[in-house]
Amino acid sequence: MYFYKNEFIPKTDIHLSPDDRGYYFGDGIYEVFRVYQGQLYEQDAHMQRLQRTAEEVRLTLPFTSRKIGQILTELVEKNKLVEGTVYVQITRGEAPRAHPFPPQTEPVMLAYCTEVPRPVATIHNGIKAITFADIRWLRCDLKTLNLLPNVMAKQAALDHGVQEVVLHREGTVTECSASNLMIIKDGVLYTHPANHLILHGITRAVVLRLARALEMPVKEEAFTTEQLAGADEAFITGTTVEITPILEVDGHSIGTGIPGPLTRRLQDEFVRTFA
Ligand code: PDD
Repeated sequence: MYFYKNEFIPKTDIHLSPDDRGYYFGDGIYEVFRVYQGQLYEQDAHMQRLQRTAEEVRLTLPFTSRKIGQILTELVEKNKLVEGTVYVQITRGEAPRAHPFPPQTEPVMLAYCTEVPRPVATIHNGIKAITFADIRWLRCDLKTLNLLPNVMAKQAALDHGVQEVVLHREGTVTECSASNLMIIKDGVLYTHPANHLILHGITRAVVLRLARALEMPVKEEAFTTEQLAGADEAFITGTTVEITPILEVDGHSIGTGIPGPLTRRLQDEFVRTFA
């Protein structure tokens, strides 16, 4: 069962309009929630980010945050989802193609859930990455549908036979195609500050909280691709990847080339936040 516009409806009964501004302009916003044991994980944080993105792109949400939360919870229940994700997007609505905001459109909300197991193999074994130029716009803090640069970057990784890209702006590491990046050097955790150049990841925030609780020094400071290469440990954080170790970048091993002890410690703590 999906949710579309203002009703729960089977996927096959959804009739999308070719005039939806999501198609023409990527004029819309989205969120991806994790569901653990039938519960939306970090629901309030996701809802706040959705609300903030909506305000920043001047899109009026079709329902209150509270109502959207209720709809998503009902979606999880109707689909008997235990472990998976919920995707929700809201576009600026349907109107003949023209750049200005249309005067009288209703925003269109679409939501559905997918059964997805936790990616335990990559969480355990880690992944490899390549560096890649971050050619995105200057509002990467907004979770909008304009993901072509992310799609191009991710595909470049797969074409190189690795799983992920480390995005950088002239050598300064920002984040990855659909996750944030953290490194550990001499016991200090570094990650790019939550400004306009990265998505303010919910998992990033959870991991920073966990690190501080473990009294691990944390520096929200940008680092370079050279610092990444010289790091003791590196990992990505995200709703779908949780905490996944990065073992190799551009063919060079990070640290000892196996998931490091502090990464493991944070992974253990992370599991406790939903188990
Ligand atoms: N992506 N950075 C980018 C560019 C992202 O797209 C995402 C999430 C993250 C991690 O944020 P969070 O911890 O809140 O999931 C960082 C989602 C999962 C996606 O687009 O599928």
